Amino acid sequence: MKKANLVLLPGDGIGPEVVAEGRRVLEKVAARHGHELTFTSHLIGGAAIDATGDPLPAATLAACKSADAVLLGAVGGPKWDDPRAKVRPEQGLLAIRQGLGLYANLRPVRVHPSLAGTSPIKPERVEGVDILFIRELTGGLYFGKPRLRQKVDGHTRAVDTLEYTDEEIRRVVRLAFQLAGPRRKLVTSVDKANVLESSRLWREVAMEVGATFPGVKLEHQLVDSCAMRLITAPKSFDVIVTENMFGDILTDEASVLAGSLGLLPSASLGDGPRGLYEPIHGSAPDIAGKGIANPLGTIMSVAMLLRHSLGLEDEARAVESAVDAAITAGARTGDMAATGEKVISTREMGAAVVERIP
Ligand SMILES: NC(=O)c1ccc[n+]([C@@H]2O[C@H](COP(=O)([O-])OP(=O)(O)OC[C@H]3O[C@@H](n4cnc5c(N)ncnc54)[C@H](O)[C@@H]3O)[C@@H](O)[C@H]2O)c1
Repeated sequence: MKKANLVLLPGDGIGPEVVAEGRRVLEKVAARHGHELTFTSHLIGGAAIDATGDPLPAATLAACKSADAVLLGAVGGPKWDDPRAKVRPEQGLLAIRQGLGLYANLRPVRVHPSLAGTSPIKPERVEGVDILFIRELTGGLYFGKPRLRQKVDGHTRAVDTLEYTDEEIRRVVRLAFQLAGPRRKLVTSVDKANVLESSRLWREVAMEVGATFPGVKLEHQLVDSCAMRLITAPKSFDVIVTENMFGDILTDEASVLAGSLGLLPSASLGDGPRGLYEPIHGSAPDIAGKGIANPLGTIMSVAMLLRHSLGLEDEARAVESAVDAAITAGARTGDMAATGEKVISTREMGAAVVERIP
């Protein structure tokens, strides 16, 4: 029996709708396997700005720091989109990742056989795709200093800084090798070493770490050709590890392979077992409040939470099998349905998974 304290951060837009289904799945797993899970909900993003003026209130961060794991929906929306605003919902996301020391973002991209036809890429190219992205999350351009704007000779100049230390690279590349071991034993390290100094360091450290995992093959790929190979030969990848911004862009590109953003989960991990789990999609303001969002990205994130933070591998697999079985049985929200297929609601999709959890 496992006791765990879980924090829910529903956030904005469809966040609360999909997190509700994730919670239902966790409750079913707990009831079936005799675990004691307690849940508390806290504010983040636009909802937190409205209530407190801060996208990550101190109470939310404190609750997350004492939790075993955190399940997040999404943040943001047109209400808070003014580019001149001093506080923005996305600042809450960056702050929580940094506040919890979560430096590795795991994004598995798998294509369910019965959904290969919904991808805009030819089915024969995407069928069988199974890639695990590991994106460095707390370094690089999004955090480097200086970050400034200044007037120079009558023009406005803006500066962002791309920096990495060898240790920041080492810890995330090591995780990639560890996770590749039980998979197909291939790590693709993505960089821009022909141009960037930070990428040359990245490559050196990747080789140094790779030498300590003789059973796993390391290959290097430049980010631009990686973007092409993801479309032309996605099955040729196993684990991809890369820096923050390259990972941000490539993972969104790869999400297209699966047919819908709504299907894909993520986990953000640091040194300990505590992690932050969230679907990769945003708050989808265009469909928020309609009860039609796809909750499977959140539910698959719940499976990752069970595996990586609670150490419950059997339960994680039970959730993944229930999702596979629901899809195989034809359960489709609007975003994943082919023309003419029956479409079900967020709640019905949650129920279709819950009833299949053994
Ligand atoms: N991690 C996050 O919280 C996160 C990530 C990306 C974007 N955002 C924010 O979300 C807001 C909207 O951004 P966007 O429109 O670029 O991206 P988005 O992911 O919210 O939506 C893109 C498209 O995908 C659809 N979609 C997304 N999730 C879906 C789901 N679960 N089921 C069905 N359809 C789904 C949406 O309806 C929309 O058409 C912005 O404020 C953005 O900053 C937040």
